Amino acid sequence: MDVLLTEKQRLWRKRVAEFARQYVFPEIEAMEQGVFPKTLLAEMGRQGFLGIPIPDKYHGLGADFTTYIMAIHELSKVSATIGVIVSVHTSVVTMPILAFGTTEQKESYVPKLASGQKLGAFCLTEPKAGSDASSIQLKAERTDDHYVLNGTKIFITSGGEAEVYLVFAVTDPTSAKKNISAFIVEKGTPGFTIGKDEKKMGLHGSKTVTLHFDGVRIPKKQLLGAEGDGFRIAMSSLNAGRIGIAAQSLGIAEAALAEAVTYLKQHPAGLETTIRLGDLGTKLEAAKLLVYQAASYKEANRPVTKKASMAKLFASKTAVDISTEVIHLLGLAGYTKQYRAERYFRDAKICEIYEGTSEIQRLVICKQLI
Ligand code: CAA
Repeated sequence: MDVLLTEKQRLWRKRVAEFARQYVFPEIEAMEQGVFPKTLLAEMGRQGFLGIPIPDKYHGLGADFTTYIMAIHELSKVSATIGVIVSVHTSVVTMPILAFGTTEQKESYVPKLASGQKLGAFCLTEPKAGSDASSIQLKAERTDDHYVLNGTKIFITSGGEAEVYLVFAVTDPTSAKKNISAFIVEKGTPGFTIGKDEKKMGLHGSKTVTLHFDGVRIPKKQLLGAEGDGFRIAMSSLNAGRIGIAAQSLGIAEAALAEAVTYLKQHPAGLETTIRLGDLGTKLEAAKLLVYQAASYKEANRPVTKKASMAKLFASKTAVDISTEVIHLLGLAGYTKQYRAERYFRDAKICEIYEGTSEIQRLVICKQLI
């Protein structure tokens, strides 16, 4: 993998790995018990890890996109929970505000997000709009210099803990093609409440909640981009988001494989069992190539939709395949809490679902090919 990283990026990787060992590793048990890693995120903010690809002018680290993706990969080897929190906060909240925001929006939100003073959440999914994102129903009605938001969002990562919410809403339900717009909504705005906190199979330290919007009055200046730009903003943000989730998948897969290697060194198995590692290692390298290729395309501002979906499709399947196979390789031990294999197995599955299921990634790739 080193051949794909510059000397500077390799130094960053060392720093992120050291941070993960020193700060993230000790928090794993608490996160597994469902504790949201607030203190850890504050430390990450202080050290710049919540604004890696954001220019230093906006209090970010000013690193390139590949360094950011490498950081998610590295952090997710230790904790996939931290991987998803960082990815959602950065790729689909801070980066779109930086890309589409007015000067005032950028100045008032990006420095606080990039330095970790505020955490971000991306609010697209609704009870009747998951994969078909354009059928969202949350309404934003224009009244003078405000919009009034009514509706519900579900499965929102970091919901309740975040202070800045990027909310997608319908501004013109009469339009043939629904007119979707994006809004920056702050926690604490009257009428905006936090609902059900999902109990999940994995990623126990991250929050996944329902959000209710009941007559939430948002000043017009909180509209991100122009009215009707929301779908485009959501989709282009998800391109970067999907590379982040692909990197998270890579971290889980690599950690699972490393656990199998360590176990088999200590508990030698027959040749037939051991050589299965050959296939797993090869799949992992193929996934890495796709993820870092997608990152380099994004960094070079080249069309990235197809590459991002391919990276997410393949890396998430790789994480599921490797973490499943590793449980088998460890035998009954792999099914116990004594080893991390079972956590990797539980954390991997969601990578095939959120930020667009594998079926959606195939559809996106297919549309791009045709
Ligand atoms: N990048 C840039 N533009 C894109 C795009 C992309 N990835 N996907 C679509 N677009 C653009 C198209 O080019 C098209 O533009 P024009 O109108 O100018 O031609 C426009 O958007 C409409 O595209 P489609 O006709 O393809 O739209 P569609 O309605 O048929 O379906 C879809 C698009 C790909 C299925 C889309 O609905 C989709 O991605 N669905 C999945 C939603 C998703 O990923 N949700 C995850 C929510 S976040 C989350 O998981 C939680 C979390 O916090 C982790």
